[in-house]
Amino acid sequence: KEVLYFDTIDSTNIKAQELAEKGYPSGTLVVADKQESGKGRRGRSWVSPSGTGIFMTLMIKPDINPNNASMLTLVAALAVAKAITSVTGEEALIKWPNDIVVNGKKVCGILTEMNAQFDYINHIVVGIGINVHNESFPEEISQMASSLMIEAGGKRFHRAQIIAETMSYFEQYYDTFLKTQDLSALVREYDELLVNRNKSVRVLDPKEPFDGKAMGITPKGELIVDTWESRKLVSSGEVSVRG
Ligand code: BTN
Repeated sequence: KEVLYFDTIDSTNIKAQELAEKGYPSGTLVVADKQESGKGRRGRSWVSPSGTGIFMTLMIKPDINPNNASMLTLVAALAVAKAITSVTGEEALIKWPNDIVVNGKKVCGILTEMNAQFDYINHIVVGIGINVHNESFPEEISQMASSLMIEAGGKRFHRAQIIAETMSYFEQYYDTFLKTQDLSALVREYDELLVNRNKSVRVLDPKEPFDGKAMGITPKGELIVDTWESRKLVSSGEVSVRG
């Protein structure tokens, strides 16, 4: 599988989509040292200065139903969390659906974008941004964001090692996912790392906000939230942990 490296790029997600359209095979990985317009979820930008982070996008062309594609973000989150823990020794947990936190602070975000028509997927790009050596963050996000170095008390890491480890976990979990096209064989491992689990959460985005207790995920990747009156399945949206 090919890995393409760039010193500077607009966004590895954009590059990966271009390569997909040019016929590059599933499994192509785009890595950059710096992004000039790194994209975050919900139209936000992703801080991507040189030397500080891992900015990479895996392009895949899975033969699955587009309705199942969003689960791949959870597969990627699981892989990144495992890789961070194995390389840094810090406990990396998942904030549903796909943020990775260390000591409660976000160190990684994932932006998955799909190009599909009807029931056929042309390609999916899974963009992963990991804050590795950042020493500080812009004011607006400094409360919630951190880097592996900060959380590990100043220790530095080899970005290439984190990338390799993430890809090796992803490959394994991706194969497992493809067998059933759902997360049934991964729910247990995901739930073990779920920072929201057994915690009070507020589900913000879709329709009416509500409070409840997060219990884990379903094999479809929905978050199971118990309120005092009923069990709810949340399939998208922002969830905040309330302790
Ligand atoms: C989030 O908002 O949490 C998702 C952030 C995703 C950032 C990564 S960095 C590599 C890839 N290229 C991008 O432009 N975005 C993703």
